[in-house]
Amino acid sequence: MLNSKKILLGITGSIAAYKSVFIVRLLVIAGAEVRVVMTPAAKEFVSSLTLTTLSRNKVLYEIADEDTWSNHVMLGRWADVMLIAPLSCNSLAKMANGICDNLLLATYLSATCPVVVAPAMDEDMWRHPATTRNIKTLEGFGHSVISVGKGELASGLYGEGRMAEPENIVTYLSEKYFRSNDLRGKKVLITAGPTYEAIDPVRFIGNYSSGKMGVAIAEAFYERGADVHMVCGPVSIDVCYKGIEITRITSANEMNGFVEALFPSTDITVMAAAVADYTPKLVAKEKIKKKEDELHLELIKTKDILKSLGALKNDNQFLVGFALETENEHENAKKKLLFKNADLIVLNSLRDASAGFGKDTNKVTMFDKAGHVFEFEAKSKKLVAIDIVDLIIKKLNEKE
Ligand code: CTP
Repeated sequence: MLNSKKILLGITGSIAAYKSVFIVRLLVIAGAEVRVVMTPAAKEFVSSLTLTTLSRNKVLYEIADEDTWSNHVMLGRWADVMLIAPLSCNSLAKMANGICDNLLLATYLSATCPVVVAPAMDEDMWRHPATTRNIKTLEGFGHSVISVGKGELASGLYGEGRMAEPENIVTYLSEKYFRSNDLRGKKVLITAGPTYEAIDPVRFIGNYSSGKMGVAIAEAFYERGADVHMVCGPVSIDVCYKGIEITRITSANEMNGFVEALFPSTDITVMAAAVADYTPKLVAKEKIKKKEDELHLELIKTKDILKSLGALKNDNQFLVGFALETENEHENAKKKLLFKNADLIVLNSLRDASAGFGKDTNKVTMFDKAGHVFEFEAKSKKLVAIDIVDLIIKKLNEKE
């Protein structure tokens, strides 16, 4: 989403300025073009050499040096968004009052793009009525204020006033300003993670799925503008966008219940979850005691959710399944595509060192109904998710 976007980062004098280094890094990794402008005070807290190196652009802080004048007007016009993080109490007060005594403030006053600020200060300063008034003034100008967090402050005290974390700031920018419209109005259902099948009140049968692939797919769809609902087994990872609706389940049967209820109103469904194929026939009410040398569990098949959706789906719905294979990968994946009546199957092979449960990378091959095979290089799950979404969009466009 941030690819090729122009972000102007303003840094003011605050201990939290060290976090700006991470903001620059995250923006650059996401493909954004970043220019940094600092107040003179900010230079006391973070090195312009570090920021110049990471942003790949010379950091600016003087309105004019010996023989050049920094064109603050063009800087403000160049940017898609101006982010001021951290915003100190002093710079906040100056912005609220139109004071223009450094390059950052001159740039701010000339900026024609949206302005976002991430304040950082001690709790007592944050709570002062003058600060509250100044924040309200900035909001009144139409600027966005990223809420401060609670935690340990530079003073050593604990309280409100910490600048939001770099990841959250970057997510905020992506979500608010750069979500695309490719899938606007489309309803997408994603399943992710493992399912746990209870044996007794303290034990279950599960699998190693981390949910990372499913979460990355949900986020990639959301970034393309879709309304995303995720039905998710027990996983520990977080979803970065608050706009993604999440239903948390434990067992295959529970997952089936929610998926079946949601499916009729969805346009695209991706079954990325590692659903248990078998579940204990009976769940012991009390903890099973270790009396015998051998313990036999009777298991029964769970419902194949993907297959049942394949039988229900209409011509306007697009259904994607995964195939996790350890042998005869292509053959088995193609069989699953037909048997379950999916439109696309994403194969991951556990034979590949870059693929598998818990890893941050994956290597997939996708199969469509027309017999096409799409092979992809090993890459991060985030980039794999983008490939999957791109191919689905391509297939939907071909249908139209
Ligand atoms: N799946 C499902 N319901 C199940 C089992 C699997 O919806 N009870 C879905 C998975 O979410 C995945 C696809 O079916 O999208 C294939 O899962 P996989 O584990 O590769 O294959 P299975 O159908 O379970 O067959 P097998 O384990 O024999 O390979």
